[in-house]
Amino acid sequence: MTRRLHIKTFGCQMNVYDSARMADVLAPLGYAATERADDADLVVLNTCHIREKAAEKLYSELGRIRRSKEARAAEGKTAMIAVAGCVAQAEGAEILSRAPYVDMVVGPQSYHRLPQLIAEAARRDPSNPSGVVDVEFPAEPKFDHLPPVRHRGPSAFLSVQEGCDKFCTFCVVPYTRGWEFSRPVKDVLDEARRVVDRGALEITLLGQNVNAYHGDAGGGAEAGLGGLIRRLAEIDGLKRIRYTTSHPRDMSDDLIAAHGEVEALMPFLHLPVQSGSDRILAAMNRRHTRDDYRRIVDKLMAARPDLKLSSDFIVGFPGETGEDFDETVALARETRFIQAYSFKYSTRPGTPGAAMPNQIDDSVKAERLLELQAVLDQNQIVFNRSSIGRKMAVLLDRPGRKAGQFAGRSVYMQPVHVDAPARYFGRIAELEITDAHANSLSARLAGEEGGNGSHMERAFA
Ligand code: 5AD
Ligand code: SF4
Repeated sequence: MTRRLHIKTFGCQMNVYDSARMADVLAPLGYAATERADDADLVVLNTCHIREKAAEKLYSELGRIRRSKEARAAEGKTAMIAVAGCVAQAEGAEILSRAPYVDMVVGPQSYHRLPQLIAEAARRDPSNPSGVVDVEFPAEPKFDHLPPVRHRGPSAFLSVQEGCDKFCTFCVVPYTRGWEFSRPVKDVLDEARRVVDRGALEITLLGQNVNAYHGDAGGGAEAGLGGLIRRLAEIDGLKRIRYTTSHPRDMSDDLIAAHGEVEALMPFLHLPVQSGSDRILAAMNRRHTRDDYRRIVDKLMAARPDLKLSSDFIVGFPGETGEDFDETVALARETRFIQAYSFKYSTRPGTPGAAMPNQIDDSVKAERLLELQAVLDQNQIVFNRSSIGRKMAVLLDRPGRKAGQFAGRSVYMQPVHVDAPARYFGRIAELEITDAHANSLSARLAGEEGGNGSHMERAFA
């Protein structure tokens, strides 16, 4: 019997990966994806808790889904609702008391048990219809219980590490995703070969703290991320490797060296710095200084001179003075990130930052955010403009906005749009950049490219 499954994903790429894996777990039960929530026998909301209003967003989304559940019930059809992801982990049974029509609450470490949870939820006693909750951190990693990936396509995510033991004082991740865990090298290689066999030219390795990766390499040995990347690079047909998100403390010399050695490793790195002030970095428990960060960037550039960086910033962390903020702006200016995400500090319940004195007024945070974003946007636009006239290798992995158009990413993760015949889909094409916009580039075909394009980019250094 075919049943319909609608998964709505919020938050990071890890959640995108998890949503795909939930679909893999449910496929043997006959669940096939549908774009429409009101068509679905099962709706999964895969939630994010990283910043403000996560819970409110969830409850308003749930309100909408409740109405379609009721409309289906009136037609004699069922619709189950599952809340998954980081808000599920943080709120647990609280979700059932606020939204009693929810059938299942399942944390990011337990979704391999969805089939059992669905059966349990279906067997509920109608006189006590409370939903089922599974927010355990099981001793056995979920990866051992997941079916092989079914992903097909030119670009794939691959989760290699989860959780975090760093305890930055602003962050909920250690509480929602649990302690750090790395998948064994063999598991990662098997999954990578499988997605390459299914058409992937590019793999993005995922982890909340991906460069803290330390997976079992067999024979009592352990591999770091650099070692893992070198092994992955041996896979025939895998042209591009990326990884995200990294912590500066875990940028080991070996990993930095891999950037210089491994041609398939893209010359682009997301390395969040959060603040340019040593005082604030210490209060955030980042365990590095601004100069440590600069030194890491210098080493990376020495290993791979054409490398470009992106970053995350938080403004208005408790106690941040105007001078602290100015240091952040100065760092943003001098490091010339080609992309960046910046956020107003948001108090996360249960984190040390939430209990700190000297919380900053929202109006000050808003002002600082605007000022910082102006600098970051400027860096991005200057870089995008400098791309005009250049040739770039772009993996055309999605349809464009208009018919006859494809979109893809440059080695630097810039979105690029191009008119191209259908056969270009899923290929790495050589494009000439014709125009630059704030967040994307336009291009025309400039020939065809068999490699991963990084040698062309090296000429840009
Ligand atoms: N407030 C604002 N931004 C945050 N981030 C994480 N926690 C918070 C918070 N409490 C940002 C950081 C991180 C990115 C994923 O989200 O910049 O790198
Ligand atoms: Fe959001 Fe963090 Fe959870 Fe990803 S891991 S969904 S960013 S809270």
